Amino acid sequence: MLKNFWYAVEFADQVGRQPKKVTCLGQDFVLYRTEAGMVTCLSDLCVHRGGALSMGSVTGDCIACPYHGWQYDSAGVCVKIPANAEERKIPRKARVDAYPTVERYGMVWAFLGDLPEAQRPPIPVLPEHDDPTFRRVQYEMVIDANYERALENVVDASHTPFVHGTAFGNPDKPGIPDFRIRTGDWSAEADIQLSPPPPKGLWGLLAKRKPRPEYVTVTNGWYLPNLVKLHIRLPIGDLLLYDFNIPLSQDRTLIKIIGYRNFFTGGWADANTRKRIEMILLQDRPVVESQRPELLPFDLSDELHVRSDGLQVAYRRRRAQLIKDGWWVGGDDIITGDVPRRKATIIPSPARRDNPELASAWVHKARNGGATS
Ligand code: FES
Ligand SMILES: [Fe+2]
Repeated sequence: MLKNFWYAVEFADQVGRQPKKVTCLGQDFVLYRTEAGMVTCLSDLCVHRGGALSMGSVTGDCIACPYHGWQYDSAGVCVKIPANAEERKIPRKARVDAYPTVERYGMVWAFLGDLPEAQRPPIPVLPEHDDPTFRRVQYEMVIDANYERALENVVDASHTPFVHGTAFGNPDKPGIPDFRIRTGDWSAEADIQLSPPPPKGLWGLLAKRKPRPEYVTVTNGWYLPNLVKLHIRLPIGDLLLYDFNIPLSQDRTLIKIIGYRNFFTGGWADANTRKRIEMILLQDRPVVESQRPELLPFDLSDELHVRSDGLQVAYRRRRAQLIKDGWWVGGDDIITGDVPRRKATIIPSPARRDNPELASAWVHKARNGGATS
């Protein structure tokens, strides 16, 4: 799992004034909106006795822990300890990590890492979002598989005729013509020719009037840390799926999908679009959950790659560089999680690096290095 990236952690319409717990990189966070409507993202772990702030309550711009009522502001600084006499000073260490947040494309993005603003990798661009000819839907599902296995599945064109049969691929024509990969620092994309199956159901009715092409171009790509794009050009229009693979833990993934279509743009077709997205995921799910080893190997030579696996190989190479740079949060770093522990570690937030005078202000140690570990 990679720190130092913007992670889309929740749909924006799911976050209000009530505290909302989200999980990413094997750590819990609490989201809530301030009075001005800005989303705050704090570590969900109270430094006093480890209460979950997400079970507490929001007053003004502060959140109160449900256990002894300590109040933290939106920068994560404790501003009130109810059991203390008024004149007693609040300890400097009474603070939790706060993570920068941005709302974009109907998602809440949190920067999970301690890089200064100028060094942060960019949030991927979703050009269809502001295009009025596109209609947006959102969908989510949890699967019991590693998020990188899930991510690679989406950019893997050669599985479609086998896993999706005639729903999506064409079992009679499983060949993948060679494709060229466009790589950037944080992404890789390719236009891949797939033989299309005849469209069925509602979408098929309209497509019948159009001649069926021999190949359709599907644009497939990954954008670090965990987004994959699938742009399908159907005879009736374009369908784009942006698929966020959120690592709840190393072996459990919350898949959040935003779909854009420029056909049947009335709200009446939203449920049908969501059903199609769900059908695709339900076909992929048992295969991805059955993959062994569960975690993506670090060494390229640990699995066999062929020409059509180019996007996955590009992903593994880029990831290997970032691991070398120290951005990896692996199993050994995860102290909180689904087994009982005595010690907690936290993804370091920018305040740790920005304020050297706070170097010793943190109770919970940074996970996998970080400025103060
Ligand atoms: S555990 Fe949060 S106030 Fe005591
Ligand atoms: Fe698939």
